[in-house]
Amino acid sequence: MTEKPRITVVDDYDAMSKLAADRVADVLTANPDAAITVPTGSTPAGMYKELVRRINSGELDASRAQIFCLDDYLGQTPEDEASLTKLLINEFLEPANIPAENIHFIPTVGDDPHTAAKQYEADIAAAGGLKLAVIGLGPNGHVAFNEPGSGPDTRTRVVDLTRESRDQNAAYYEGAEIPEQAITMGIGTILDAENIVMIVSGEGKAGIVGEMVNGPMTNDLPGSWIGQAGERAELIVDQAAATEIKK
Ligand code: PGA
Repeated sequence: MTEKPRITVVDDYDAMSKLAADRVADVLTANPDAAITVPTGSTPAGMYKELVRRINSGELDASRAQIFCLDDYLGQTPEDEASLTKLLINEFLEPANIPAENIHFIPTVGDDPHTAAKQYEADIAAAGGLKLAVIGLGPNGHVAFNEPGSGPDTRTRVVDLTRESRDQNAAYYEGAEIPEQAITMGIGTILDAENIVMIVSGEGKAGIVGEMVNGPMTNDLPGSWIGQAGERAELIVDQAAATEIKK
């Protein structure tokens, strides 16, 4: 990366989760109506647990936040058990009592997903733009479903999934077959956010984190484009995932 995000190395998964929850809380405290996007997968589960605890104890008010889903499989509805949005509903939106009218599902069904994707971008703009994008990093360097080959100008669109990502995500559903296409916010959509927080944990991600931070910004490793956001982006990484970062 030529420009670098801020890099915060924390002890472990719990510390990463709490700090990520702090970042969400800071944005919502400063701007209760903020539009934010948050990821699915195994990494954010601890952050959601912490946010739900804070919201239900009254420490944090998220009742006015506008939540935009980052990505999902084409053809799966938020009611489908095998959708990413369903995971988000179960882990965060429902236990945190986020009002239904404040939840923006990424358009996965319908005759014209391309037009719907453009409308989704317009909806984000109408909500004032994203104040915060929390994202993860896939083992192949993907961010949301921006697979290798995705550039910094990509917007919300339909994408083909790699075999690797489909196998990775099958683990969330006890080995179910994962659809071949998805709809995802683009790298450009994410880079437009006022703040970007990337969370990464575990020794299994150490190699890709090292490649991302030490190497150039490249479409081969879409997560590397957060370097373009400079100080607006923060990589929160636990020690196990930070071992390959060169000082
Ligand atoms: P994970 O997925 O949190 O399950 O590792 C991250 C990602 O693919 O973005």
